[in-house]
Amino acid sequence: MISTQWSPDSWREKPAKQLPLYKDKDLLKQTEENLRKLPPLVFAGEARNLEAKLGDVAQGKAFLLQGGDCAESFAEFSADKIRDTFRALLQMAIVMTYAGSMPIIKLGRMAGQFAKPRSSDNETQGDITLPSYRGDIVNSREFTAEAREPNPQRMINAYHQGAATLNLLRAFAKGGYADLNKVHQWNLDFVADSPLGERYETLANQINDALNFMRACGITSDVVPSIKETSFYTSHEALLLPYEEALTRQDSLNGKWYDTSAHFLWIGARTHQLENAQVEFIRGINNPIGIKCSPAIDTDELLRLIEVLNPKNIPGRLTLIARMGDDQVEEKLTPLVRAVKSEGRSVVWSCDPMHGNTIKSSSGYKTRPFDRILAEVRGFFAVHKTEGTHPGGIHIEMTGQNVTECVGGAQAIGDEDLSSRYHTHCDPRLNANQALELAFLIADELKGIHVETKEKKDYNAVE
Ligand code: PEP
Ligand code: CO
Repeated sequence: MISTQWSPDSWREKPAKQLPLYKDKDLLKQTEENLRKLPPLVFAGEARNLEAKLGDVAQGKAFLLQGGDCAESFAEFSADKIRDTFRALLQMAIVMTYAGSMPIIKLGRMAGQFAKPRSSDNETQGDITLPSYRGDIVNSREFTAEAREPNPQRMINAYHQGAATLNLLRAFAKGGYADLNKVHQWNLDFVADSPLGERYETLANQINDALNFMRACGITSDVVPSIKETSFYTSHEALLLPYEEALTRQDSLNGKWYDTSAHFLWIGARTHQLENAQVEFIRGINNPIGIKCSPAIDTDELLRLIEVLNPKNIPGRLTLIARMGDDQVEEKLTPLVRAVKSEGRSVVWSCDPMHGNTIKSSSGYKTRPFDRILAEVRGFFAVHKTEGTHPGGIHIEMTGQNVTECVGGAQAIGDEDLSSRYHTHCDPRLNANQALELAFLIADELKGIHVETKEKKDYNAVE
């Protein structure tokens, strides 16, 4: 049973899953002390702004786009990679904004997405068994005893990489890189080069017309700064609790606790049990939060979690990220959506079409068929249409790089292509083209909702 007393370290009294066993306890303690002295990465006011925007999503007035690496890594850290992922997210957002006629809230799985849950504590190769790789914030992927030993000092590296990433993201978001006209030009280049070009040309041309019309009316970035700026938020899984606790600070403005390692934190499908340490931690922070919902979660468990995580039913506080798999989404999501609605709970429903659709390819790589990803997204929209609820968002693993990790898509990546650019440190990601292709599909779905809402309003007006 969850007690009402909460403090940043009250999770330590609870059973914890997926936490590394650090051998050097003194070094762990010292590292936590050092982290506690470092400045927060985000400001609590930003987390409140994000919560308000997610509140709009919960009320059907906006859509959430959350994406980035499965696992960020120390080796793959570069300005180009950050820029390309940011850019791919903006490209997705512009088509979705236009088609859905609603704001798209942009949330990166970036600047802190390092810790990974694993299905097994150990990995065996031949006759050697070593601790599993748990993300660069914990240990190293190389299969040697030294590399796999959890090292608390990696938390300090992760903090600094997070800080540098966030710094660049803020510069891109506000410094002119996010200009709508530029982002649209990138999409035109995509449409020109892609086999799907013709299919999406109409939408691209409509956006072109809209931008030209705005320009002709004098609505340019000189007079309306929001044309060249955007808001961009960061998120990661709240898994490695010593790190999250050390960055949890009391806001000087309202006295409440915020985890300042990111704007938004979620708990994964393996750690969301009510009595568990991660749930205890996340319930007390005032950031907007998420829970992954796998096919294993039932309605009673979900409603109990909602009661603990959002007792005051604040719109935008809680996002439910369904990751059911394309073959189970309609059957498993429907009862959850129905129960949440009938209990009057305000949530954001988001769709993670990645984690339920992972397979092993014949070439031995972990992959995800693009068709199944699309099918889960369609299923997600279909459920919400039937239930009369808002399909609020999408949560994807993607990169701006031209990787070959998920099979399919307009480029028709096959099993035999996976080896050519398979760079992920954990799960397979959509590449920039696949991500944009997915955005066009979501745009079609959002357009449907927009037209329907408009028709309803027109009908009411006639009445
Ligand atoms: C993830 O988002 O990378 C992840 C591990 O997801 P899940 O908790 O849904 O399995
Ligand atoms: Co993943």
